[in-house]
Amino acid sequence: MNKTLAAVVLMLGTASLAHANAMPKGDAAAGAGKAAVCAGCHGMDGNSPAPTFPKIAGQNAKYIYKQLHNFKTGARNNPLMMGMAAPLSDQDMADLAAYFSDKKMSGGAANAELAKKGERLFRGGNKQVGLAPCAGCHGPAGEGNQYAAYPRLAGQYADYTKAQLIAFRAAGRDDNTDVKRIHDKDKPLELGPMQMIAAKLSDKDIDALASYIQGLRN
Ligand code: HEC
Ligand code: HEC
Repeated sequence: MNKTLAAVVLMLGTASLAHANAMPKGDAAAGAGKAAVCAGCHGMDGNSPAPTFPKIAGQNAKYIYKQLHNFKTGARNNPLMMGMAAPLSDQDMADLAAYFSDKKMSGGAANAELAKKGERLFRGGNKQVGLAPCAGCHGPAGEGNQYAAYPRLAGQYADYTKAQLIAFRAAGRDDNTDVKRIHDKDKPLELGPMQMIAAKLSDKDIDALASYIQGLRN
């Protein structure tokens, strides 16, 4: 891990901690009562019926909470989810996060050819372009890190993963709302960690990673 990245990880760790302290204690049973409006797109158990809607079953609670916040403030720009998050209180978000994180994410399948390359990048990164291994933050099996609010990736739909990596690469998805940044590719420190990482991925890398991730099970 190079120095810049290490500094960002440190900064991000602190930022995530601030989020964690502000997060109310979630009640999964209360969340079940609030989840019916989510079911049409994410499934009642968080395993979405369509690959453009992310699975949120088994996703870590802090990450779900943070994303709902980001949609509500508009830091993460998606018209469907901004509308859904607008009426939610902090307690609603924590309850929904507790409910969906208790479920189990369903597994998917990978394309064997793509997955080979995807696995290399995921576990080893790419020294030539200074790409850190995904496993360093998202876990060796893509299970995520619930303490740091790094999302679980394993089993996620390839279509969704691909769309997010492309959005990060275009600096279209802001991934750290605690630091004010200008989206300027010439100023790498003003980009979020996933924006910097995605900037180093080719279209082929993204296809390979998305397929590999869809096939990860744990
Ligand atoms: C009309 C469809 C729709 C409904 C209803 C809906 N969502 Fe979503 N949700 C989406 C889409 C589409 C995305 C992906 C947004 C993007 O691409 O940035 C998403 C993303 C999310 C994410 C981020 C997942 C990730 O991996 O980053 C969370 C968390 C989430 N939704 C929770 C909820 C909750 C909780 C509800 C109910 C209160 C809900 N959604 C209702 C369509 C919907
Ligand atoms: C330095 C730590 C770090 C590394 C290394 C890293 N990520 Fe991430 N990743 C994050 C964080 C933090 C987020 C959540 C951003 C946010 O809060 O919106 C994230 C989010 C994502 C998401 C969005 C998940 C979702 O549910 O919407 C995808 C996809 C992703 N990363 C893929 C990758 C891939 C593929 C690699 C390797 C090429 C990688 N990441 C390397 C920290 C990292």
